[in-house]
Amino acid sequence: MLETPSTSKPEAEAKSKAKPGAYIECTGFELPKYHPVIITIDGPAGTGKSTVARQLAKRLGLDFLDTGAMYRAATAIMIDRKIDKEEVGELVSMVLGADLHFDWQHDPPMILAWDAPIDHRIRDDDVTLLVSWVAAIPELRHHMVRKQRVIGAQHPRLVTEGRDQGSIVFPDAAIKFYLDADPEVRAKRRIDQLGLADTMDLAQMCERIVKRDEIDSNRSDGPLVCPDDAIRVDTSKYDVQGVIDLLEQHTRERIADLISTE
Ligand code: DC
Repeated sequence: MLETPSTSKPEAEAKSKAKPGAYIECTGFELPKYHPVIITIDGPAGTGKSTVARQLAKRLGLDFLDTGAMYRAATAIMIDRKIDKEEVGELVSMVLGADLHFDWQHDPPMILAWDAPIDHRIRDDDVTLLVSWVAAIPELRHHMVRKQRVIGAQHPRLVTEGRDQGSIVFPDAAIKFYLDADPEVRAKRRIDQLGLADTMDLAQMCERIVKRDEIDSNRSDGPLVCPDDAIRVDTSKYDVQGVIDLLEQHTRERIADLISTE
């Protein structure tokens, strides 16, 4: 279900002109160039969060953070360093030692562990199969949340996507979105995205996605939830460009509102 924008376009436009300053040109609304703004996008797997967040960041001239990449990197480390699933302490200290960080010169930013790229590894099937389990480890989540807040401080104009960005990591974010879609739609998108049409059927992918949702939503720490103040978007009936357009419109309206009340 879609929230109705709180401000009409002409109203928002008028408000956005209330403050002088350096502005980025945009379609009807203006975003102050040096104004800090954190936008969170949360939601389950297969809602197109990454693509949408990345494109939205581009359109608005903001940085983009893929927090799933951090949990995937931790999972790749666990598998590749042959750390036993039960050895949570060992895993956490290994991930701490790896000093996961992003190279922001890359588009999208590239994740590194021990100063070496690990992005080529993080979408492999073995990682995807285990990542929800790893992402449910509270000690690891605390570490990631801290890191993400540091990133937010260093990149205060940011679109960040994940499962807990609006609820836990950036509860005061200026704008929060929650993307959702029917499990079947999400499964179909994942199959297309990964080029698995010949090897995996829809039911199998659907089952995997529902299982992952279940783990992500039921963990004790930072479960997947729609924050009360988030704009909820059912992406089932839109293509990617449609979702980005919609989020961009909401964002520009919200920002116009925010800066006019500062
Ligand atoms: O968005 P993704 O598929 O790359 O996420 C991979 C896993 O990491 C997924 O199981 C959910 C988890 N995750 C999380 O728990 N918290 C986040 N902020 C981001 C991802």
